[in-house]
Amino acid sequence: MKQIILTGDRPTGRLHVGHYVGSLKERVRLQNSGTYDEIFIMIADAQALTDNAEQPEKVRQNIMQVALDYLACGIDPEKSCIFIQSMIPQLPELAFYYMNLVSVARLQRNPTVKSEIKQRKFEASIPVGFFCYPISQAADITAFNATAVPAGEDQEPMIEQAREIARKFNEVYGETLVEPNIVLPSNEASLRLPGTDGKAKMSKSLGNGIYLSDEPDVIKSKIMSMYTDPTHLRKDDPGHVEGNPVFTYLDAFCRPEYFGEFLSEYENLDELKAHYERGGLGDVTVKKFLNNVMQSELGPIRERRKEWEARLPEVLEILKEGSKKAEQTAAETLAKVRSSMKIDYFDNDNLLK
Ligand code: TRP
Repeated sequence: MKQIILTGDRPTGRLHVGHYVGSLKERVRLQNSGTYDEIFIMIADAQALTDNAEQPEKVRQNIMQVALDYLACGIDPEKSCIFIQSMIPQLPELAFYYMNLVSVARLQRNPTVKSEIKQRKFEASIPVGFFCYPISQAADITAFNATAVPAGEDQEPMIEQAREIARKFNEVYGETLVEPNIVLPSNEASLRLPGTDGKAKMSKSLGNGIYLSDEPDVIKSKIMSMYTDPTHLRKDDPGHVEGNPVFTYLDAFCRPEYFGEFLSEYENLDELKAHYERGGLGDVTVKKFLNNVMQSELGPIRERRKEWEARLPEVLEILKEGSKKAEQTAAETLAKVRSSMKIDYFDNDNLLK
């Protein structure tokens, strides 16, 4: 079977370092591994509209921002097809047929939907489109016959629901759709990078994110004011590394060679952590080191982003070409789906049989 990747992001803001370690970095690694026959990366504007119906301009503005972030991270348009969700009319048609295979109760049980309903205070007024977005996401994934979906941990319930829909479809209408698997980052800290304030989720509204497009001085000031261990008041107090975002970020970003480069008193992260736990290591020293690490990791990404920013018409062309190619693939899947459902009435004189 062909190995195919489909993944994507909602264009509701620029992408941050949580997106990077949680998914983008893994996508680039998989893209360059050569083990995938096809890679589709989708800017999920239609899904973004399910909870931003009144802010289409915000979604529109962020399409180019997300495309720039992709290119900056090393998504290569020669190897990966980058496209815009709403440009593919086959996706809502697939979702419309899948809706008949999913119960309201099953959607209500989806943990991601549940927590988002709460977060957005939608309890009494969930838009139907928002409620159904897991079904639309199943359409996104199955339209491209994706075998693998590299995404963050928060997407697990979505992929599980997509698998169920594919299975149910195949049961009812015969073997047609491919069941996808999620591909999570292997590094524990990267699964869920906290905000700079230590809160579980990095988000624009909380103002606790470091963005891929942030300038060096902005990154530095965000890191120097990061939340650490509230019990580590004086340098000599023993400190905690668990739940301390400065160390979580180091777990996610640090490479062994950075010690030689920036903090040669220590061999590795374990030694640094042990000293912090023992007491005698100040937060400022650790933060300065983290700043050096983050500047080294994010510098090349920001530079590449600037190069693409100077070539916006080319970026637009990449999205146009990508959307054309994606539509062809989705149309092939839709034709198979219609045939399995025997609603391809005008093909093969279907209605005369
Ligand atoms: N739900 C994803 C997010 O919130 C975006 C998305 C839409 C997606 N369709 C997808 C991710 C299909 C993976 C596969 O960012």
